[in-house]
Amino acid sequence: MLKHTRVTDPQLYQLLEDELHRQEKNIEMIASESTAPLEVMELTGSVFTNKTLEGYPGKRFQAGSEIADEVEKLANERAKELFHADHVNIQSYSGSTANYTVYAAILDPGDKVLSMRLDQGGHLTHGSPANWVSKMYHFEFYGVNKETELIDYDALEEKAKEYKPKLIVAGASSYPRLIDYKRIGEIAKEVGAYFMVDMAHVAGLVAAGVIPSPIPYADFVTSSTTKTFIGPRSGMVFCKAEHAKTLDKGTFPGCLGSIQLHTMAAKAWCFKHAQSDEYKAIMKQILVNGKTLAKELADHGFRVVSGTTDNHLVLVDLRPKNITGKLFQNALDKVGITVNKNQIPFDPASPFVTSGARIGVTSITQRGLKAPEIHEIVEIMDQVCKAPEDEANLAACKKRAEALISRFPLYPAGSFDD
Ligand SMILES: Cc1ncc(COP(=O)(O)O)c(C=O)c1O
Repeated sequence: MLKHTRVTDPQLYQLLEDELHRQEKNIEMIASESTAPLEVMELTGSVFTNKTLEGYPGKRFQAGSEIADEVEKLANERAKELFHADHVNIQSYSGSTANYTVYAAILDPGDKVLSMRLDQGGHLTHGSPANWVSKMYHFEFYGVNKETELIDYDALEEKAKEYKPKLIVAGASSYPRLIDYKRIGEIAKEVGAYFMVDMAHVAGLVAAGVIPSPIPYADFVTSSTTKTFIGPRSGMVFCKAEHAKTLDKGTFPGCLGSIQLHTMAAKAWCFKHAQSDEYKAIMKQILVNGKTLAKELADHGFRVVSGTTDNHLVLVDLRPKNITGKLFQNALDKVGITVNKNQIPFDPASPFVTSGARIGVTSITQRGLKAPEIHEIVEIMDQVCKAPEDEANLAACKKRAEALISRFPLYPAGSFDD
C-alpha cells in the first residue's frame, strides 16, 4: 500500500498503517461512516486528480476537457437514472457544500428559511448559529413532538404559515424515522416556499429503493456521497427540470471553483454499483440490522428514541443506564466500539455531555455482521454501562469486541498488497 509514500514519508505512511489497523480492529458504529469500496479509493487516487477545469461539459474555461466531459456526462446520466431525477449537479465537494450551492442558487441575503432544529436531528448547515449560513439568512426551526419524538408536522405547518419562509429544509443527521416528504412538500407549496431535502444520511437506502425517495416531492435534493451511499467524500444535488439552470449557475460560478474529477469518477462508479444486487442486498440488510439493534437495546434496558428505527441509525437515551453520552462514547472507545454521543430530543444535558448516543449500522453491515453479532455488541455495551470506569471491566469487554470483529475483515485479504 502507498509504495511511494512509504519511501518518501515513512512517518505519514505509519499513520496510514495505524489508521487501517484501527479501522480493522474496531467495531465502527458512527452513523455517518461507511467503508469505501476499493474502486472508490483507486479512482480518487488516480490521475483524474491532475485536471483543472471550471464550467460544465462542452462549456469549460480551460482546454483539454474532452475526457473529463465524458466522465461528468457519464456520472450525470447514471445518477439521473439511479435516482429517477430530472437533473443532477455532481460538482459539490461534500454534503455541506451541496447545501451551500442550493442556498447560493435560490436565496438572497436576509431570506427566511425553515429547517429542523439541530438539537433534534438537523445539521449545522441547516442554520446553526455556529455556521456562517445563520449570519446570511434568517432561520426558524421546527422539531419533534415531545411524546412521539416524531417530526411534528402540524407544528411545522403552523410555523410555515406564520413565518412564510422562502425555503423549507427537511432531512437530518440524527433522525431515525422516515420523513413524510409528501406532506412537507405540500406545506411548502401552500406557503410558496421552495422545498429542499438533505438526504445525506439515507442516500444509499434511497438509491436501493428500500426507503421512500424525496426526489418526486422536493425542488432540490442534496446529499453527501459517503454515509449510507458508500462512496467518496463528496456531494451531489438533484433538482426538478425547471430549476436546472438556476442550480448549475448557483453551483458554478455561484459557489464553487474547479471540479474534482477524481471524486466525480468515483461517484460515476458508485452510481453504476448502486444498481447491483450486491449493493441492494447490503441496503436491505442495513434496515434489518437497524431494527435488530433497536430491539436489542430496548431488551437490554436502554430507551430507544421514538421506539425504533426505519433507517441505518438508532438514537438511544442512556439515562436508564445512569451514564452520559460522553462517558458512554469514551468507555466504548476504549473497548473498540466507536459511537458518538448525541443529544436526544429535549435533552437536559449540553451537546458536550448529552444524554444519548447515535449508533449506526452501515459499516458493520458491510462487514457482514447480522443479528447474532448485534446481540453480542449490545451485551458488551450493557456490560460497559455497568462499570464504565473500571479498567478491568473495559479490558474484558475489549477482548470480546476484538474476538467478534476479527471474524469479519474490513477488506478482502491481500487488498493492499503491492
Ligand atoms: C444531514 C447532513 N447533511 C450534510 C452533512 C454534511 O456532509 P459532509 O460531511 O459530506 O459535508 C451531514 C454530515 O454529517 C449531514 O448529516
